[in-house]
Amino acid sequence: RYDAGPFLPPGGGLDAYREAAAGCEGCPLFERATQTVFGSGDESARIVLVGEQPGDQEDRQGEPFVGPAGKLLHRALTDAGLGEEPAYVTNAVKHFKWAPDERGKRRIHKPPTLRETHACYPWLDAELRLVSPDVIVALGATAGRALLGPSFRVTKDRGTPLPLSPTATPAQPDAHPPVVATLHPSAVLRATDRDTVYAALVTDLRTAAALLS
Ligand code: URA
Repeated sequence: RYDAGPFLPPGGGLDAYREAAAGCEGCPLFERATQTVFGSGDESARIVLVGEQPGDQEDRQGEPFVGPAGKLLHRALTDAGLGEEPAYVTNAVKHFKWAPDERGKRRIHKPPTLRETHACYPWLDAELRLVSPDVIVALGATAGRALLGPSFRVTKDRGTPLPLSPTATPAQPDAHPPVVATLHPSAVLRATDRDTVYAALVTDLRTAAALLS
């Protein structure tokens, strides 16, 4: 069974978890990735942003959202009035999943399976407990499924505060903040009607911003 659980440290803060996650072999994705990309940001952040998995740049640099999607995300946060707000940024899956293109030159991103996402959830759960934010933002379908359950659909579920899935948090569901799901920044980069899709992302981030206490 794929499961990060046995790799979690017995306790400690974000640094202890980050260090332990570096050695995670809870699913096969560690084999092809350069390194674990754990979350980054302030332990006292009021907002946690959850992406899918590290991309090519993130895999090389070891930090989440430092590539093109991250650049767009930071612009959207600023446009949503969150430019000065300390955020904790992480991913549902901590290793880059990829396959070589036909010429063997480029690393093509592959979406993680539900099984891989579930296997990695203990890390995300620990991050959410340690940071204990006022609001969680799920960026795209993978983060949405991890936090809101397998029937999550971006089109139907984005933009309104929803309770964290009870299956995602068996221990203490009441202690958890609302989740606002939105589009993944990469979906904005791929969209033909980029301005409209970008505006939707900013609108949803404003909805999340309004939940900060
Ligand atoms: N896309 C993601 O979902 N996460 C990253 O960290 C980078 C790109």
